[in-house]
Parts: sequence; structure tokens; C-alpha cells
Amino acid sequence: MKSEISRAWWKEGVLYQIYPQSFKDSDGDGFGDFQGVIQELDYLESLGISMVWMNPFFESPMVDNGYDVSDYRAINPRYGTMEDFDAMIAGMKKRGIKFVLDVVVNHSSDQHKWFQSARSSRDSEYRDYYHWWPAEKGKPPHRHSLFDPEGGWDYVEESDSYYLHTFAEAQPDLNWENPKLRQEVYDIMKFWAKKGVDGFRMDAFQFASKDTTYPVFPEGHEKDFIKWYGMRPQLHDYLKEMYKEVMEPYNVFAVAEGAGSTLQDAHDLVDEARKELQTAYHFEYVDMSRTPEGYKLTDFKNVFTKWDEAFAEEGWLAVFLSNHDNARLVDRFGNPSPEFRRVSTQMLNTFLLSMRGTPYTYYGDELGMTNIDMPTIEEYVDIHAIGKYKTVLAKNEDMDEFMKVLNYSSRENARTPMQWDDTENAGFTTGTPWKKVNPNYKEINVASQDKNPNSVLNHFRNMVKLRNEHEVFVYGAYQLLDRENEETYAFLRTLDDKKVLVLLNFTNHDSALELPELKQINKTLISNYEDLNNANGKITLKPYQAVILSIN
Ligand code: GLC
Repeated sequence: MKSEISRAWWKEGVLYQIYPQSFKDSDGDGFGDFQGVIQELDYLESLGISMVWMNPFFESPMVDNGYDVSDYRAINPRYGTMEDFDAMIAGMKKRGIKFVLDVVVNHSSDQHKWFQSARSSRDSEYRDYYHWWPAEKGKPPHRHSLFDPEGGWDYVEESDSYYLHTFAEAQPDLNWENPKLRQEVYDIMKFWAKKGVDGFRMDAFQFASKDTTYPVFPEGHEKDFIKWYGMRPQLHDYLKEMYKEVMEPYNVFAVAEGAGSTLQDAHDLVDEARKELQTAYHFEYVDMSRTPEGYKLTDFKNVFTKWDEAFAEEGWLAVFLSNHDNARLVDRFGNPSPEFRRVSTQMLNTFLLSMRGTPYTYYGDELGMTNIDMPTIEEYVDIHAIGKYKTVLAKNEDMDEFMKVLNYSSRENARTPMQWDDTENAGFTTGTPWKKVNPNYKEINVASQDKNPNSVLNHFRNMVKLRNEHEVFVYGAYQLLDRENEETYAFLRTLDDKKVLVLLNFTNHDSALELPELKQINKTLISNYEDLNNANGKITLKPYQAVILSIN
């Protein structure tokens, strides 16, 4: 089958996500920085990746680790200077790596000069950059907040009004209904595009447009958060405007965090003919494994297959299994025990890099970095975790159970310093790291894996190389096989006369399967075990074995 999907560089490469605070510290202050990334440019190149998305590094009071921006054109000095930034992206470009900027414009920081002025007076020229409810109208209709247990409105005395915040109190929502605000945002994006940025990741963007009459929502509506708080029809108009103002003239792409609540929403966001966004990623599969109880493989397959089928002819998605908002890849979807960590991470990376959609991989997952054990709330700094803790406390819910789930699923798991080697602080810093290094850095680190052909790291590199060399992994059609199998995920990718079969054992024991395609094997393209136990259409996969076969 020939895929008619149009070609684009942002579909073809592999994206690597860097959490700048935790990647590499060059000056011993305990925070990662641009010069640290510059020191590791050869490492990035060695991975074979072709895009880097970096989480926010702008001026910020850091209430939500930089997702609260107080100046969109200034660098937070802890990461370096604008010259360092320029040198960093120039170094990436030299190595063929494009740069994707995180654009956090559903909200700003409450320390942004726009908000400082807006809150002070109803006559401020920036007043309509935000959402207000004048106190003389009484209390505003309840709005749920994702981070603030007290809800989405907060009172400011100076102008006797409430302002709206979908996330933390310190993250007031910007008013996208105001054309002046929209122009400000496009100007900011142009500023960075002129500096050579190749793409934008639109943070929390599905919530940008609001019904500014602030109607009363029905009881319990929070459960369907996106439906009530996101994807209003005007959002599409704003995206079309942004496309014309920024994406088209500067030849940059944009990816949305969140793809709406229905497949139709997702299509409307990324349909090429509509000229809104180029790509998006949804949360349905990461939502399925938020507790230690885990997930069912058939559910996992069904979600991926459903989304793939909906985009088989048109539109493009990004795929990811972990990021800075989730627990570590191997803890969520694999097996972090010393016996199976290596093979199960390799298996998951094989999946991510052979699936259709642009793969987004998160720093450290190329090594099999794991969750960190943080059983008590005192160790947490993340505003999301602390907000949830307060809610459980206020409602007198089961705290032991909550802490167990938090320890497993918290975002802090994914924010520990990168493990470079087995020297003190994993080679991340010579100072005191802002966040505790995972004690397992002595075993899991770049230096120990770099030269080992069987390491997680080298498997990752080999997989990226394979994907880069064979277009079938990018543009080939996807077809699920053996849907009901609870142990093995098997699928085909087909482009013209090229066909590859991907087999992934998701269990910690041998798993046999029988497929007609196994009678047509041409050769093994990659495997995380030496031998392949295949005879006459039957195969027995070892625990967490991942193998890709080319098929006649
Ligand atoms: C997005 C980011 C998350 C942040 C939130 C508020 O979900 O990924 O880290 O806390 O938006 O900006």
C-alpha cells in the first residue's frame, strides 16, 4: 500500500526533549544550563535525533518550574545568557538538529508586567489581557483549577475583582479573545523564529479560548475537563490567524500539547487544509497507567490503533510515552526491576521508534532512567503534587493510598538530574543539585552504557538509525495483528513493497505466538536478544523481547 501522506521534516525525525534544569550544569550552581547542553552536543548528535524540544527557560519566578513566564523575550539567568542560547542552537544546527521552543501562552506569570499592571487598575491598558470578574457582581461561577484546590478564581484587592487561572494562582490565564493580546503573542513567536527557532510546542493551548460570559457549569463537570474548559470554536480561528502570522511566513511548525477530547477535535487541529497546527499529541495512553496497578496491553494497543486509524489518511500526530509531566517510561509501561529494566526499556523504545507518528523521547529514557523513591510529602517541590496533597488533606481522603500513587506517578520522578557517569552527582553538577540525583546512577549512566553494544543507550541509537534509514517506519501504513493477545504487541508497517513486522513481548516470561507473516521472514533488522526462536510460523519471544523483521 502506498501512503499518500505528504512529506515534511518534522514527520521524519526523532525529537528529544530536554528539561534544561536537569540536563547538565556547567557552572556548579546545581541547575542545568545552556553551556551544559553545549558540552553535550556531541552526545545529542550521537543519538541520531534531529529535533530538540526544550522546556521553558524564560524569565520566571519558577512557581511551576518555568511554566510561569514573566518575560517571554528574556532568558532566566540560571540557564545563561542570550549569547549562550544563540551558541547552543547554532551548535545544534551544525549537527543537523532543529530546535523547538516551548510557548506558554495560555497563561503568564502573575509577575509579568502585563498582569502587574492589569491587576492594579480596571483602567490599565493591559486589563483585557486577562480574564476578570468584578466583585460587585458577587462571587464568580465556580471554575475548576488543575493546580489550585481552591478553584480557578482569585481575588485581587487593588481592583476589587477576581482573575481566572486554569493552573496555579501564580499563572493567570491570558485573554485570547483580545486581538491585542494575540498580536503580542505572535510578536513573541516572531522574535524567536527570527533567532532561528524551527518549531513551537504550544503549552496547554486547548484551554486558550474561553466563554467570557463565564456561565455556570453543571455539577461534576470537572470530570470532563477538556469539554468544558477547552476546544471552544474560536480556538480554531486563533490558530488560523497564528498560522498566517507566524507559521507560514517563517516556515516553522507547531505542535499542540493536547488534541482535544474527540478524534474530530484532533483532526480539526492538524488537518493540513485548515492551516492551523501541523501536529498534536493526545493523552489517552498516558492516562491509562497512572497507578501502580498498571494497564492492560489490549487497552494500550486499542488506543494506539484507534488513533492511528483515525489519522491513516490525513493529519499527523506525535507519539510519546513519557515526558516532564509523567513518571519514567520504564516504571509506567515496562519493568524497572534490575532483572528486566534493560530489556523492557529497549522494548518500549523499539515501540516508540517503530510506531507511526513523530516519536518524542524524553531525556534519560534512552538510558532507562527510573522513578525515584519519594515516600513523604516534605521531599516534593512540584506545585501540582502539593496542590493534590492539600486536596486529599482537606477532604480527609486516604492519605497512605494517595502517597503511594503520588510516589509512583508524580512528575518529580521524571525531573531528576541526567545520569552522565558514576562520579558524584552522576556528573550532572560539581555543586549541589537542585533535585536529588537518583541513587541508581552508579549503574544507570551514559558512561557505563556508551561502549556496551547491548546497552539501552546503544539499542536506542540503533533504533533511531534504523528509523532514519527506512522510510517505512515514517510513512508506512500501520496494521495491528493479533489484537486480543494480552502478552505481545505485533504490528506491520508497510510502504510500497517494503514490509516490516514489529513484535514486542510486554511480559516478564516467554510468550509464544503464531502468525502467517512469520513464514515470510527475510531478515532480522533489530532485536534485543541474540537469538530468535522461530520455526514454521511460530515464535517464542523471551521476556520483553523486541524484534523487528523484514518480511517478503
Ligand atoms: C503543561 C506543562 C506542565 C505545566 C502546565 C502549566 O501541561 O506540560 O508542565 O505545569 O502546562 O503550564
